[in-house]
Amino acid sequence: MTTLITGGAGYIGSITSRLIRSTGRAVVVLDTLENGHRKAVGDAPFVQGDIADTELVERVCREHQVDEVVHFAAYKAVGESMENPAKYFQNNVTGSQKLFDALSRVGVNRVVFSSTAGIYGTPEVVPVTEQAEPRCESVYAETKLMIEKTLQWYSRTTNMRHVSLRYFNAAGAATDGTLGEDWRFSQNLIPHVMKAVMGASPALTVFGNDFPTPDGTGVRDYIHVEDLATAHVAALEYLRNNGDSVTCNVGTGFGTSVMEIIHATERVTGKNVPYTVAGRRAGDPAECYADTQRIQQLFGWSPTRSLDDIIASAFAWHSSHPLGHDS
Ligand code: WQD
Repeated sequence: MTTLITGGAGYIGSITSRLIRSTGRAVVVLDTLENGHRKAVGDAPFVQGDIADTELVERVCREHQVDEVVHFAAYKAVGESMENPAKYFQNNVTGSQKLFDALSRVGVNRVVFSSTAGIYGTPEVVPVTEQAEPRCESVYAETKLMIEKTLQWYSRTTNMRHVSLRYFNAAGAATDGTLGEDWRFSQNLIPHVMKAVMGASPALTVFGNDFPTPDGTGVRDYIHVEDLATAHVAALEYLRNNGDSVTCNVGTGFGTSVMEIIHATERVTGKNVPYTVAGRRAGDPAECYADTQRIQQLFGWSPTRSLDDIIASAFAWHSSHPLGHDS
């Protein structure tokens, strides 16, 4: 049987796809290549297409004997989602609805969904548990919450079961240096730190150092992308063993500040990270990091890689792939 991986040509999708294959599962990747890269798919079976193309999805599921899905495909730029909400609701929400409709029709009933801690917005309490009230502060986050809710209704009305994984801050690259994110299109901290330490940008801009945190800079939960991948494998196993639908945080359970990331990068690389301090970025909470009890208890999963592993793998990847997979 085969695992369908939507968005499997992307940063997290490609690393997860390769790990799933390494467990002996067959996969088939469905990706428009609008943001993903064909090279990232490697020699995995690949179909270029859209999750909203229900006939294509049904055909791929039948031809490849798909019996489970990991659903990554989505637009994920927070800022863009606020400038072009229609693009995000159409692609992420309507596209996912059409995907689930097609899966339901061909009897594929196990889905692992790529959600985000972004739905917590500015959490009242940290660490954040899954019971925290969603407080979406972007269209992007709202689309992810809407898809979670769609899956919950499919669970109540059909045989479909799912695991929604709320990612905290995915970072780092494949330890073997062959897969990683394309820093040309990322607004996230770690790629920006890598550009500064490698001289690809004049300096890192630190968005605010007046937060109510130990060193005044923003605190987040940075999880190695390979630990994120193992969480998906654990979620698939849980569903294969008839686990009930559930939503889980995926993080380390620890908060790390921007300054701590800068210092870790200087320690690991032996190079200086030039930076300047600017005002806070709109919508940035002071702190957001995960309570991970549920995923640890349900799946027996926990992260194994350190912050230094994140920094070292990101540095190796960006050093050898300044143009992502176009390098
Ligand atoms: C992290 C920290 C910034 C860049 C976002 C999305 C979330 C998820 C992960 C998809 C903050 C600071 C950043 C920079 C900085 N994406 N920073 N200088 O905002 O926590 O989460 O990405 O699922 O949905 O919201 O991540 O990496 O942008 O910021 O000082 O150049 O680094 O202020 O404190 P964020 P981030």
